Amino acid sequence: MVRFFTAGESHGQGLVIIVEGVPAALPIGEEYIASQLARRQRGYGRGGRMLIEQDHAHIMSGVRHGRTLGSPIGMTIENKDWVNWETAMAVEDVGDTSHDERSKRITRIRPGHADLPGAMKYGFQDVRDVLERASARETAARVAAGAVAMRLLEEFGIQLHSHVISIGGIKAEIPEVIDWQAVEESPVRCADPEAATRMMAEIDAAKEAGDTAGGTVEIIAENVPIGLGSHVHWDRKIDALVAQALMSINAVKAVSIGPGFEVADLRGSQVHDVILPVTDPDHPWQRETNRAGGTEGGMTDGMPLVARFAVKPIATITNPLPSVDLDTGDLVQAHYERSDVCQVPPAGVIGEAMVALVLAGAFMEKFGGDSIPETRRNYEGYMATVGPRLKYQ
Ligand SMILES: Cc1cc2nc3c(=O)[nH]c(=O)nc-3n(C[C@H](O)[C@H](O)[C@H](O)COP(=O)(O)O)c2cc1C
Repeated sequence: MVRFFTAGESHGQGLVIIVEGVPAALPIGEEYIASQLARRQRGYGRGGRMLIEQDHAHIMSGVRHGRTLGSPIGMTIENKDWVNWETAMAVEDVGDTSHDERSKRITRIRPGHADLPGAMKYGFQDVRDVLERASARETAARVAAGAVAMRLLEEFGIQLHSHVISIGGIKAEIPEVIDWQAVEESPVRCADPEAATRMMAEIDAAKEAGDTAGGTVEIIAENVPIGLGSHVHWDRKIDALVAQALMSINAVKAVSIGPGFEVADLRGSQVHDVILPVTDPDHPWQRETNRAGGTEGGMTDGMPLVARFAVKPIATITNPLPSVDLDTGDLVQAHYERSDVCQVPPAGVIGEAMVALVLAGAFMEKFGGDSIPETRRNYEGYMATVGPRLKYQ
C-alpha cells in the first residue's frame, strides 16, 4: 500500500509531505521532483502567486545516496511568500496585530469556497482559518508525493500524461496520436494548437471582464498492466479509486473514466471494446477501441487508463459576487484574495500526480515487495502468466 499525507497552510512556513509504502532501492532525487513541481507552476492564466513561489521539495528522510530506503519519505516545500505573512500566520500568539493589514479578520464570505461551511463546522470567527488550508497551494504537496509514485511506476514502464480538452467552452480536436512534447510546450497544455490560441483568448477575455474560466482535462496512463484493482470489493475498484482521487482536487466537479457520460447516449455495440485475436505474446488482449478507458469490472484491462475531469471556474472573481458578512449576515461584496484566472492547465499536472498515487498503491498491492528487485520479480512472474491460457503456457 502506498499512502501519503500532506500538511501546510497556503501562507504558512511551508508544506510537509510524507509518502509511505515505497519499496527500497528506487532511484530518486530532488531534481526529478522539482521538474514535476515546475510543471504545476506553469500555465496561461495563473496569478501572481506563481511568480513568487519556485517550488522545491527538500527530501528530509527515506532516501540515501539517491535510492529509497523503504522507510517513509519525508519532504518539505518552503513557502517563499511566508516572509510577508509572518505576523498574520504566526504559530505563536503574537498579541495585538492591528498594525498588520494581512492579519485583519476576513468576514466577507466567498461563495464557491470552503469559507462558509468551514467557519460553521470548526467554529471560526475568521474565514482565514479556513481558506489557508482549503487553498490549492496544498496541491504542490500532492505533486511532490505524486512524483515519487511516478518514479516508481516508471521503473515498470508506466507513463502518465495529461492534456487540456476544453477551456471556457472551447473544445480541442484530440489528435489520434498526441505529441506530448508539444503539450508540455503549450501554454494551456493543449494538443490542438488552433484551439489553444482560442483558449488563451478566452482566458484574456475572462480576465478583462474581471471573471474566471474553467475547463476539462484528460489523464492518460500508458503501459498499465492488466489486473490492477479488483472486482471483489467496492473500495478496491480501480475506477472508483481514480474517481475519488481526481474528485479530491480543488474545484473538480465531475470525473469520468474514458468518455464517461457520452457512452450513455450510445448503443452497447457502439460502446464496448472488441478484443482482438492474440498475435503477439508480449502484448496480448489488444482492443479495437478504448471506450472503457482501460478499466473493466474495477480492474485495469491492459489498455491505457484514461480519465477525464471537469474543473469549475475559479470562485475568486475580481468583480466579487454579492455575498454576506459572517458577523451580521448582511449583504456585502465577497472578499477578494490574489487569484488565478484559469487553473485548468496546472490541474492536469495535479491529476497526473493523483492517478500516479492510486496506480502506485494498486501496483504495490498486487505485486508487493520490500525492494525494487523483489517487486520486479513478482511483477515479471505475473506478467509471464497473462497470455492466452493454452497458447503460451
Ligand atoms: C491548481 C489550482 C489552483 C487554484 N487557484 C485558485 C485561485 O487562485 N483562487 C481561487 O479562488 N481558487 C483557486 N482554486 C480553486 C479552489 O481551491 C477551490 O475552488 C476551493 O478550494 C473550493 O473547493 P471546491 O470547489 O472543490 O468545493 C484553484 C484550484 C486548483 C486546482
